Amino acid sequence: MQEKSERTFYVTTPIYYVNDVPHIGHAYTTVAADILARYKRLEGYQVFFLTGTDEHGQKVEKAAQERGVDPKTHCDEMVKRFQSLWERLNISNNDFIRTTEDRHKKVVQKILQDLYDRGEIYQDEYQGWYCVPCERFWTEKDLTEGKCPDCLRSVSEISEKNYFFRMSKYKAWLIDHIEKNERFILPLSRRNEILGFLRAPLDDLCISRPKRRLSWGIEIPFDRDYVTYVWFDALINYVTGIGYGSEGNSFSGFWSGAVHLIGKDILTTHTVYWPTMLKGIGLDPPQTVFAHGWWTVEGKKMSKSLQNVVEPNRLINTYGVDAVRYFLMREVPFGIDGDFSHSAMIHRINGDLANDLGNLFSRTLSMVLRYFEGLIPSPSHLQEVDRGLQAISERVLSQVSEQMNDLALNKALASIWEVVSAANKYVDETAPWSLAKEEKDRPRLGTVLYHALESVRMIALLLAAFMPSTSEKMWSELGMEKNLWDQNLKVNGKWGGLRPGRKVPKPTPLFPRIDPTKISFE
Ligand code: MSP
Repeated sequence: MQEKSERTFYVTTPIYYVNDVPHIGHAYTTVAADILARYKRLEGYQVFFLTGTDEHGQKVEKAAQERGVDPKTHCDEMVKRFQSLWERLNISNNDFIRTTEDRHKKVVQKILQDLYDRGEIYQDEYQGWYCVPCERFWTEKDLTEGKCPDCLRSVSEISEKNYFFRMSKYKAWLIDHIEKNERFILPLSRRNEILGFLRAPLDDLCISRPKRRLSWGIEIPFDRDYVTYVWFDALINYVTGIGYGSEGNSFSGFWSGAVHLIGKDILTTHTVYWPTMLKGIGLDPPQTVFAHGWWTVEGKKMSKSLQNVVEPNRLINTYGVDAVRYFLMREVPFGIDGDFSHSAMIHRINGDLANDLGNLFSRTLSMVLRYFEGLIPSPSHLQEVDRGLQAISERVLSQVSEQMNDLALNKALASIWEVVSAANKYVDETAPWSLAKEEKDRPRLGTVLYHALESVRMIALLLAAFMPSTSEKMWSELGMEKNLWDQNLKVNGKWGGLRPGRKVPKPTPLFPRIDPTKISFE
């Protein structure tokens, strides 16, 4: 059992509000989760990758009312925007959860009932302030100049009976858990932020909304006059998605290695509400909650009112799926804020993708065509420079594995580019075009081209998780027989997997250069 659970990996994205138009921030987390999932699968892990949509609450109810449709119909239409974007972005999620599904309602109600039966939930009169856009209650002391501390919009005074989860009693336990588990909240700056937050008193959590105010939610099983607070409902998706409370043992196998990827704005819900809720029902906290930074656009906050929301679909139309995936992961260290600009995007595409990677690929394949009629040559006597290239790629293979474990996705890409640069340098230094002039140098020419191509094979393997279509193309053009996705990085990442004698085709450019004066956004 121990052995099995060590080989499982469970990664999640936040479930996105179904009302929103998917933007670059949503794509960012989802692509990052996809890369981790694909990478771990290539490392031989049994992986479960979950994403989905958050469909209850006041905003959805209101939007549906305004359109004159019932909320479920509204959600059914809206959810397609996320689902089709994930398909276009090549997202390999194992499941897509919607909080309006029956399987989820059942789990939420089961958890509520369990907590209620254990005395973890009680009813009380609530007096305070409510922020409709954030769907959150605040006490007087929380407010910033009388406004919601999160979004700085107006709040309304509220007094009503509600149900509360005894979150406060877990405060000491939570602090202890955070302190003892360095990987629970990442990056470390976020861990410190939450430890700071926990220095102030922690209130119990209001988990209900009276139906007369909000009906679009999951009914509280022990009091039909109420629905569940949308965050309490939403967080539970992470256990519903892997079968909590249902037959079979897929839940426990995956839960022990859970990694939640989130944006920095939803840190408190994921590292205070969620672990205490889990503790209440007798489950362990997730292994890691990683909060990434936020994207600005050309230096400005991204917002509907500024009309500068970056829509991934438009980026894909202009630059292609893999270039978008690459840019998002390479441009900004995972965990800190970053800025999107078209000039930065074009710079990355023309530099890293067209010049470095694209040229390496096309020039090595072209030389095999020119000098060996397209048949991959056999290597013979090795020289220092050949061993050097092999050593770099083997070092990078193990380095990337560690960086992926640390969720240092941009560093992993930088490491992979060390192989790309080393391979380009190798070709420059060994100068196959000179070796091709003398018949006596043919064995050496074969060795050099074999090595250059073998580094391309290694790059295709290492990049597969980041740029799936590009790697698939590289892989098949190298004449590799087996499916890329059936490879194991430990086994097939060993130098020398390329088979001499296979035929390579005339390469087509991986990434054409972009002329900034000629791009259009549609
Ligand atoms: N529904 C909740 C999450 C519930 S999870 C149990 C939610 N949804 S959301 O659609 O508003 O936001 C989803 C994610 O988008 C959050 O992780 C948020 O950080 C992220 N982003 C929103 N704007 C962003 C940027 N400008 N940049 C990067 N990520 C951003 O919150």
